[in-house]
Amino acid sequence: MAVKPVVLVTRKLPDAVMARAAASYDARLNEADEQLGPDDVIARAQGCDAILCCSTEKFPADVIARLPGGLRAIATFSVGLEHIDLEAAKVRGLIVTNTPEVLTDSTADITLLLLLAAARRAYEGERMLRQDAWSGWTPTQLLGVHLGAKRLGILGMGRIGRAVARRARGFDMEIHYHNRNRLEAGLEQGAVYHESAEDLLKVSQFLALNAPATPATERFLNRARIALLPDGAIVVNTARGALVDDEALQEALKSGKLAAAGLDVFEGEPNIHAGYRSLDNVFILPHLGSATLETRNAMGFKCCDNLDAIFAGKDPPDRVV
Ligand code: DGY
Repeated sequence: MAVKPVVLVTRKLPDAVMARAAASYDARLNEADEQLGPDDVIARAQGCDAILCCSTEKFPADVIARLPGGLRAIATFSVGLEHIDLEAAKVRGLIVTNTPEVLTDSTADITLLLLLAAARRAYEGERMLRQDAWSGWTPTQLLGVHLGAKRLGILGMGRIGRAVARRARGFDMEIHYHNRNRLEAGLEQGAVYHESAEDLLKVSQFLALNAPATPATERFLNRARIALLPDGAIVVNTARGALVDDEALQEALKSGKLAAAGLDVFEGEPNIHAGYRSLDNVFILPHLGSATLETRNAMGFKCCDNLDAIFAGKDPPDRVV
């Protein structure tokens, strides 16, 4: 019988993915789902051909340099790549793959959930009921704002940004966007392109952050840029926490410059900036963007498809390095 490739799977993945990994590889699983630090990953990866990791494991250059010599690939169970130093991986001759496309719809759905929840004060309403503090319907209770006929600015018009735009059109929102490159008309679907992010901010009554975390987008939403948004704007983030200056955002939510925010991602997860916990006008979720069984299965199967291709000596479909 052929020797199976040895693969370290760093987290507990959905059952169907674990079953496929266990059948296809000599898989080193983490059934207890312990969060592994760099030293744990390096120790467990000894003798492995590949690592199937998540964005919770960090691979900066010094960790990549310490990975075992025989390692050929890192398949990340994420579309985001900010946890891996791609340049270091390239220099080391490691193949890196990710999981694009399959999480587009679930992440766009969560973006709409955040837009609606922030605009319609879902957190305050829910809390009122849970705390048995509802004294009954009143004409002026928890008044929010409409999405319809408002301008939605989308920063980052990749697959997820475009899926957000499609959904938001269903709520009669007017779509504006900024992207590194202007989209062709077929993809733009009538959305208004802004050459600079600053110009986009000036018109965005709602702002959705859908750009990847890169050195260029780090702390994108800072004090100066928040000041450009229309008064009473609503901001949502399903991309990465690194795009936001937490102090500046909280300041604007307290002052009323921003009416509300909806956040699914945070800098330093899971240790979110404590200030968010006590703000009524922020709706927060624990990074649920891709958290549906269908999506997580599809992400896991993509990782396996990529690894299968690598072990068969082929170019994997989602190779990034
Ligand atoms: C992704 O795929 O990047 C999700 O945010 C999970 O990390």
